[in-house]
Amino acid sequence: RRRTRIHHLREYKRRGEPWAMLTSYDTYTARIFDQAGIPVLLVGDSAANNVYGYESSLPVTVDEMLPLVRAVAGAAEHSLVVADLPFGSYQASPEQALHTAVMFMKAGAHAVKLEGGRRYAAHVEALVAAGIPVMGHLGFTPQSEHGLGGYRVQGRGDQAETLLADARAVQEAGAFAVVLEMVSSGAAKRVTGELEIPTVGIGAGPECDAQVLVWTDMAGLNTGQTPRFVKRYAEIGNELARAAGEFADDVRSGAFPAKEHSFD
Ligand code: KIV
Ligand code: NA
Repeated sequence: RRRTRIHHLREYKRRGEPWAMLTSYDTYTARIFDQAGIPVLLVGDSAANNVYGYESSLPVTVDEMLPLVRAVAGAAEHSLVVADLPFGSYQASPEQALHTAVMFMKAGAHAVKLEGGRRYAAHVEALVAAGIPVMGHLGFTPQSEHGLGGYRVQGRGDQAETLLADARAVQEAGAFAVVLEMVSSGAAKRVTGELEIPTVGIGAGPECDAQVLVWTDMAGLNTGQTPRFVKRYAEIGNELARAAGEFADDVRSGAFPAKEHSFD
């Protein structure tokens, strides 16, 4: 198996083969997901919640994201590694976007992702002109949570036209794929049909070219409720809690360490 490249993703779309993307923030999950055949790994700014414990993605910084990108890129042998540009690190201008994107590429990323449509076309263009592949992100864009008035499904009714115009602009600017987050299935289907580049859905129905989940959600690492669009494929959190509890019990009872864990 060779490294996934952006032209492979377009090929998958032409052939009608859906593919999966997962977030990853560290070396172990990067290696495991890479070996499991996940073609694209996203070092999402969801690291804000999943690594740093922030309440939203807004606080996470470039300095906090860079080491995670180095870890994931260093461990992924086959997966294409996409680095998410954090809030405030690209919005000001195409120049700022390029400056930030270059830092992530130097950290080992193969592509970057940024949120926004028509108003960010110039930003996308500047990166693509510099040889940096860009993944767009439309629909519910978490960095604009407050501007959008909270977690709401996008693309319903006449919002569908806006979404389509944004998607076209992102494609036109040279993006190689676009995430559609919390978009009505109908609107996502329409965008997917109209675009040549693949759509990567999260809460965007079954018609997208690819699907992405946050790994801690799909593996059941987080406690508390997960959004409706998440399917939990494991209960890693429970398993870890069990292991930690058994270790503590063994230490209290004297069952650990045993002779085989000790030196003469
Ligand atoms: O940061 C993230 O995890 C994301 C995905 C949900 C697409 O942007
Ligand atoms: Na993100």
